[in-house]
Amino acid sequence: MSGLLALEVRGLRKSYGDALALESLDLELGAGHILGFLGPNGAGKTTVVRILSTILRPDAGWFAVAGVPNSRPQDIRRRIGVLPESAGYPRGQTGEEWLTYHAQLFGRPRSSARGTARRLLGEVGLAERGRSLISGYSRGMRQRLGIARSLVNDPEVVFLDEPTLGLDPVGQVQMLRLISSIAHEHGATVVLSTHLLGEVENLCDAVLILSRGRVVAQGTVTEVVHRAAAPREALVQVSTHLVERTLRAFSSGAIAAEALANGAQGEVRLIMPAGMSSDVAATSVMACLLNADVPVLSFRLEGGRLSDAFLAVTEASS
Ligand SMILES: Nc1ncnc2c1ncn2[C@@H]1O[C@H](COP(=O)(O)OP(=O)(O)OP(=O)(O)O)[C@@H](O)[C@H]1O
Ligand SMILES: [Mg+2]
Repeated sequence: MSGLLALEVRGLRKSYGDALALESLDLELGAGHILGFLGPNGAGKTTVVRILSTILRPDAGWFAVAGVPNSRPQDIRRRIGVLPESAGYPRGQTGEEWLTYHAQLFGRPRSSARGTARRLLGEVGLAERGRSLISGYSRGMRQRLGIARSLVNDPEVVFLDEPTLGLDPVGQVQMLRLISSIAHEHGATVVLSTHLLGEVENLCDAVLILSRGRVVAQGTVTEVVHRAAAPREALVQVSTHLVERTLRAFSSGAIAAEALANGAQGEVRLIMPAGMSSDVAATSVMACLLNADVPVLSFRLEGGRLSDAFLAVTEASS
């Protein structure tokens, strides 16, 4: 589907009774990307996942998944995979039986369906437990089985609603690796709803932050962080004999400086005032050092993190 958008969403809106859950969502996502879909509890993430996977009807708006418009929900369902927020698993079946059944639902003959089930069990690290009853699986194993189920039809777009929920730190890392392989090896587009902001920074090429049913940030991780989270610190390195002069250079301005006792030789930490953009911060620091006649050996702006941006945009909207 090169050239096609994996997701195109216009003016999506949804209320439950009188309660507005999603005010208006517009989104475009190119094929093969991993979208980090973020927001505090109750922001509307699951609502959006349910609408886009055609389980729930929107009150208004239009969308297309893998190039298929929402007027053809059956065709959308054939092209997507979903790990729902609260997935139920039949306790009396083995993982392999359950996956085989789901592959058959997508029209595969039994033997090929079983082959698909076994391959996916291997991919999600359940090869050895595939013939055990699901009732004996741990939570992490069930999540991985759910991911395998979402892949039985070789989907173009995969929606994962909090796949790392309840997993221990090692389980979380394994799950994120698995998600990365869905995009990079299966070539699928992934919409990943999660609260793990640090991991989103590494894994996702696009981010959308919802808060109370509204989009409060959208773009690449860098764009979102750049717009919402101003840098708070910078590290500058100068010759050791110029540390004192560097500190004096910042003694009267808005930027505070302190020599780093435990840092590398000649390192000075600069604290930026709240709200100063990275461009202004970098220019001010350089101008100040130039005026003081201090040659700069290295300069690094410690950018805000996605978690800073998340707090900034979600607090501002609540
Ligand atoms: N079936 C429902 N009936 C009534 N209200 C609902 C229903 N499902 C969701 N809501 C409300 O819609 C809003 C959005 O909920 P949603 O589950 O989409 O949020 P979420 O971002 O997935 O939250 P979480 O991070 O807790 O999973 C919330 O205010 C929620 O109470
Ligand atoms: Mg949810």
